[in-house]
Amino acid sequence: MAPAALVAPPAPPRVVGPETRRITRPTNKIPKFLIDEACITNKESFDPEKHVNFQPPSKIYTMKEIGLEGHGISPNAVSEPFPLFTEGAIKQIRAEVFSESVLESCQYSSTFVKNMVRGMGPVRAPFTYDAWYCPEVLARISEVAGIELVPVFDFDIGNVNISVNDPSSTKGPDGSKCDNLSAFAWHYDSFPFVCVTMLSDCTEMIGGETMIKNGNGETMKVRGPTMGTAVVMQGRYIEHQALKALGGRERISMVTAFRPKSPFVKDEIILTGVRGTSDLSELYSQYSMYRLEVLEERIRAHMKKERKREDAKRPFDVDNTKRFLMEQKEFLESMLEEIV
Ligand SMILES: [Fe+2]
Repeated sequence: MAPAALVAPPAPPRVVGPETRRITRPTNKIPKFLIDEACITNKESFDPEKHVNFQPPSKIYTMKEIGLEGHGISPNAVSEPFPLFTEGAIKQIRAEVFSESVLESCQYSSTFVKNMVRGMGPVRAPFTYDAWYCPEVLARISEVAGIELVPVFDFDIGNVNISVNDPSSTKGPDGSKCDNLSAFAWHYDSFPFVCVTMLSDCTEMIGGETMIKNGNGETMKVRGPTMGTAVVMQGRYIEHQALKALGGRERISMVTAFRPKSPFVKDEIILTGVRGTSDLSELYSQYSMYRLEVLEERIRAHMKKERKREDAKRPFDVDNTKRFLMEQKEFLESMLEEIV
């Protein structure tokens, strides 16, 4: 039988990141009322029994449904918002986001988002970190994503976007004018999957949906999350845009980035979207550690297969070995491009 023709998977989309190249701290201060209100006296440890409130999304759009079958790492594209955390859990997360130690060192600003809190780390934000590494939470997120996922690395466990509405002005909660309905330009994410969790009460808010582009370039609107609910999206492979949210006092959402748990799944993570809003030493260290671990697992598995082949006295497979080496070469070359 003739060997099946090898069809190369589609090349990953090019990502355009913010123009921010160096760490920029926000010029507009986070209002004191947000900090005061977030303060709590009863700090808790994350407990899935108490803090997880998962209910499956009413609908998960597939890549096939949006005309992108064969792209990405999972058949699932994007979910409807689904309950994930309890209100008590959201309060604990908010308390960490607006804590003194976090506000002191984790505030960033970019041409995309004026006020961000990122890279809180497990010492400053133990509840948030335990929540996103909790096996039950990961199992639920993976269920919605259609593939087993883990957080990409600590720095992007939580990227918190903060916008505050000034009711006396005609501006939207992110500070920009309301006449333009898109809060972000069309873009792809740097990470395969993201989970966007809403940390604000959205009852008086309108808008805030995500627009996605299907394989034919047609657009489709997906509902945005409300307090305690989340949306999971394969953002590295789906072009999308966040629509402006109007009304409501504040809009605070946490974006957690995920990668496949299996080291054998293709990995097209890049750092374009986060380089300008990260402590580069921390970011590069976490990025290279996980990449080298992936490589280590791949090499171990390949060696095991080689030994077995040798034991069984089967001939050396030149094509397969070359394919393996080529994949690892591209993986390493990508690292050389990302660490700059
Ligand atoms: Fe995005």
